Amino acid sequence: MSDAFSIFPRQASVQAVRTDLNFFLLLGFSCAILLLVLCLVIGFAARYRQGSTARRGKLPEALQKEIEIGWTVATLFFALFFFWWASATLLGQLAPPKNALEIHVIAKQWMWQVQHPTGAREIDTLHAPEGVPVKLVMTSQDVIHSFYVPEFRMKQDVLPGRYTEAWFQARYPGVFHLECAEYCGTDHARMGGTVVVLSQADYAKWVARQPESIGLEREGAALYVSLGCSRCHEGASGISAPSLRGIWGKPVQVAGGGTRTVDETWLREAIMTPDAARVAGFPPEMPGYQGVISEDDLVRLIAYLKALGQNREAQS
Ligand code: CUA
Repeated sequence: MSDAFSIFPRQASVQAVRTDLNFFLLLGFSCAILLLVLCLVIGFAARYRQGSTARRGKLPEALQKEIEIGWTVATLFFALFFFWWASATLLGQLAPPKNALEIHVIAKQWMWQVQHPTGAREIDTLHAPEGVPVKLVMTSQDVIHSFYVPEFRMKQDVLPGRYTEAWFQARYPGVFHLECAEYCGTDHARMGGTVVVLSQADYAKWVARQPESIGLEREGAALYVSLGCSRCHEGASGISAPSLRGIWGKPVQVAGGGTRTVDETWLREAIMTPDAARVAGFPPEMPGYQGVISEDDLVRLIAYLKALGQNREAQS
């Protein structure tokens, strides 16, 4: 579709194509049924008009049953097909591929802050390569926002106190609108930005042009020491705290009861409000870091804890 005039936004992501296909097929199917019913109404009205000689009265019993079962089963089949197809599309949009490029997004009144794994930072702009799955790990510093890129058919709420994920794979380079789709206060309407999709070569050049940074994970490693985490978790202080090595993605028994999986959300909770998220069997010595550590730093710290949890060195 051309830029000059089009009813629908461009289909700039793989997801956009699938979502639209769903929409148009369902629309087409509904129109076909509408047309069929309209034709029957008009046809019957004409055929059985007052004074016509058309045969009236009941259909033979057997034929009546066949028609009844026929249309019921056919409609059920189509409805189930659409349900299956739409859910498969949606579930696919929720689960990012394992090799996806991971970018962190922090929403705040009223801006989008983006942190790349290389340590590069942007405000209200997100640079991404084409043809590569990009996973966004998002959180909010204050109220609920929603990350919305119409040309990607992508909308995901961004919540304070937890991480939500979304992913896209851009089909071609371009500049696309980013908007906040959840009313979040006075400047909600102005809380927008752009997603800049570059060819892979241009993206590599863009990354290289960014100011020198040691990378998210290494910045996190520095925080791990400066905030004092390493003193207890590396066992030097004599306080008993669980080791954080090799635990990523594994289940953990928590003091509040039950099991949790070690991921961004649990780590976040264990750092900010450790009481319920604390690992069972350890004394409640861990202080809460709510209000002590900023969301930006938390992203760095968790990036490092993830590397630690995967038993690898911090990379830039
Ligand atoms: Cu942020 Cu609306």
